[in-house]
Amino acid sequence: MNILLTGGAGYIGSHTCVVLLEKEHHVIVVDNLCNSKFEAIKRVEAITGKKVIFYQEDLRNTPGMDAIFRNNAINAVIHFAGLKSVAESVARPLDYYGNNINGTLSLCSVMAAHGVKNLVFSSSATVYGDPEVVPADETAPVRPFNPYGRSKLFIEEILTDLHHSDLSWNIALLRYFNPVGAHPSGRIGEDPSDIPNNLMPYIARVAVGRLSELNVYGDDYDTPDGTGVRDYIHVMDLAEGHLKALEKLATNSGLVTYNLGTGKGFSVLEMVAAFKRASGKPIPYKIVGRRPGDVATCYANPSLAGRELCWTARRGIDEMCADAWQWQSMNPGGYGETG
Ligand code: NAD
Ligand code: WQD
Repeated sequence: MNILLTGGAGYIGSHTCVVLLEKEHHVIVVDNLCNSKFEAIKRVEAITGKKVIFYQEDLRNTPGMDAIFRNNAINAVIHFAGLKSVAESVARPLDYYGNNINGTLSLCSVMAAHGVKNLVFSSSATVYGDPEVVPADETAPVRPFNPYGRSKLFIEEILTDLHHSDLSWNIALLRYFNPVGAHPSGRIGEDPSDIPNNLMPYIARVAVGRLSELNVYGDDYDTPDGTGVRDYIHVMDLAEGHLKALEKLATNSGLVTYNLGTGKGFSVLEMVAAFKRASGKPIPYKIVGRRPGDVATCYANPSLAGRELCWTARRGIDEMCADAWQWQSMNPGGYGETG
């Protein structure tokens, strides 16, 4: 199949490129590189020995997107492109709604014009907000509490309306939990441009000596060790979930929603200990106050994806940390140093 990946130069997109190329799919990437580097695409090509067709374009440029669809016989789209920082979305809500929602509207209008109606969308566990019951399944109430999370929920609703208006659309809404780790080669990985907001890249930069210590945001939660508990999922497991979702759409699935998580929760301190084991490096940390908007515990019930996609996350936290460390230690400056 010819598969278009929006945001395919980013963290999850680049790993998904590798999985799709290794299954002999043709991959076309459109990315405006606002949060990624073209180097990631070069590395994907080096890992797989296959070519990626790349367009540096903004999804909101509808004529530009139309030209991409005219020049490539696209069969399905995986839509990763979007802005993803919770804190930034609180400070700049219009940018987040504008980019994430208008980008999706532009993409879908071009897909409709070209009769391409198979779409996988990157949603997020953040749509559950603070789940009342864990593990959270797909029927849990959705009530995100920041503009980023709301942009994801609004897009889920837009795509649901689109499917209802024309039942020939097949759409998979994939709610990712906490993606971490890297391709085991260490050649691609997560490369935040600023000081990382997320736990795993922050720990990795402490281990490699780019940051001096980790701030642990609160040890007074109602969890076994008092620190926040999350469902960390290896990015390669996540990437494989996209392949399974595409296979599902090909059966004329209609609109489907799946949690992509492991079903297991680990605390901040458990992740610190696992990273220390994997890297052999000290991870100095100090306990500070809670981060506004954080929840105590969030992990998935991934059994629907198990049943309907035949997909289960296989990699555990030791492998997640080992692969994140391989990437970080081989590329201490991320993609930047190697241009
Ligand atoms: P990322 O920032 O690494 O990748 C997103 C890519 O989209 C970047 O390469 C960026 O340059 C591109 N992009 C953004 N706006 C664009 C636009 N208007 N036009 C063209 N390209 C544009 O993020 P990621 O971690 O790979 O996340 C991929 C998707 O998964 C995002 O939609 C994100 O919201 C979602 N998600 C991520 C996580 C996570 O923790 N990483 C969790 C749940 C959901
Ligand atoms: C994990 C745990 C923190 C950093 C966010 C988004 C969510 C999704 C994934 C996109 C929490 C603690 C963190 C640090 C810490 N993204 N922590 N010190 O908050 O579960 O989810 O990323 O969709 O929408 O909200 O992930 O990695 O930021 O935090 O103690 O420096 O680590 O308090 O308990 P989170 P995270």
